[in-house]
Amino acid sequence: MPESVLFCVVGTRPEAIKMAPVVQELRRFSTLARTLLISTGQHREILHESLAAFGLQVDVDLDIMTHGQTLAEVTSKALLGLDRRMLEHGPAMVLAQGDTTTTFAAALAAFYRQIPFGHVEAGLRTNDIGNPFPEEFNRRVAGLTASLHFPPTEWAKENLLKEGTNPDTVFVTGNTGIDAVLEAAKFGAEWYPSSSERILLLTTHRRENWGEPQERIARSVRELVDEFSDTRLVVALHPNPNVRQTLGGILGDHPRIDMIEPPEYLKFVKLMQRSTLIFTDSGGVQEEAPSFGIPVLVLRDTTERPEGVTAGTARLVGTDPKKIQEQGRLLLSNKNAYTQMAQATSPYGDGHASQRIRYHVLKSIGIQTERPA
Ligand code: UD1
Ligand code: UDP
Repeated sequence: MPESVLFCVVGTRPEAIKMAPVVQELRRFSTLARTLLISTGQHREILHESLAAFGLQVDVDLDIMTHGQTLAEVTSKALLGLDRRMLEHGPAMVLAQGDTTTTFAAALAAFYRQIPFGHVEAGLRTNDIGNPFPEEFNRRVAGLTASLHFPPTEWAKENLLKEGTNPDTVFVTGNTGIDAVLEAAKFGAEWYPSSSERILLLTTHRRENWGEPQERIARSVRELVDEFSDTRLVVALHPNPNVRQTLGGILGDHPRIDMIEPPEYLKFVKLMQRSTLIFTDSGGVQEEAPSFGIPVLVLRDTTERPEGVTAGTARLVGTDPKKIQEQGRLLLSNKNAYTQMAQATSPYGDGHASQRIRYHVLKSIGIQTERPA
């Protein structure tokens, strides 16, 4: 049995998807270090489904989710549960991904126990502490405590360096979400009923969009569907009850709008590939869609992922009906405008991020492994 234990901590759907390739890669070296997949259980069904897509199961499940949970509830239960597990297993390093409350709790718990913390998808910033809420705060804290930072892009690296992070601890890796989506694209089977209509895909769940902004989003996309009779809107509903209530009220009764339970990851990836246009406030979807040349309209006022906007694969439209409809109309009616966006290349990674992370993590605990390009 190897002496060193590594913790990979996840809690929500995107963490499961983006951490899965890291866990798989670290486990290729399981004779040298033992990798435990720890879940806070901040999410339940959608987390387990996402891990199952990679053939993974959690080793430890704190199972903390309750319906309509508050930030304080998630933080306190995750912090205490993770602390207990850190005491029990004495990991040589704790890894967590992104900016959720689970990530924040993992970073803080490791800091309190003085265990090195590695931050996957480090350095994303809007520089507006209230937007996205509470994620900007969470990732800044994770960055403060981390001893290894894995920014996906050069831009994210620059953010860390500007904040005074030691450059010797910062390694640009690409986003592990791209490792995941390229792999998933090989396996998913066509499942959504075939139709001659163009598919528009909508996902929205961000806290700062709850209520009024999400109502504006829903009305705007409904009007677009009415305007373009050859389109069908597919709404992949987030399980959050706040989101379901708002979207159901506005989009629930249209013959060309399908409100569906969130498809599990492999199915969702296939659905993205089938889509003509994606409307989303999701971080992960913003990153994945350009891998398939699908234009994305980002339903947020700010983004910590400006690379897609710069590369021309995504456009920020916020929750302003005028902007959503203007850009939606343009892309649905103007072939040149559409092709220009669809041809831009993805700036988020080459599918080998987890190998780079594995190399630096193992090296930091004294284990030398093959160095990826
Ligand atoms: C969380 C993250 C957000 C991330 C999102 C990904 C925080 C503060 N928020 O937001 O950064 O973008 O996940 O989806 O960390 N629920 C279920 N089943 C599930 C999952 C959720 O029923 O499998 C319902 C529960 O009622 C739960 C609610 O959704 O209380 C909200 O979950 P929570 O993790 O608090 O917030 P999200 O909006 O999902
Ligand atoms: N996703 C999924 N099913 C869905 C919606 C999203 O599998 O119905 C995947 C998506 O491909 C991406 C991740 O979940 O990898 C994004 O999760 P989410 O939008 O919940 O969180 P965010 O990325 O905004 O933090």
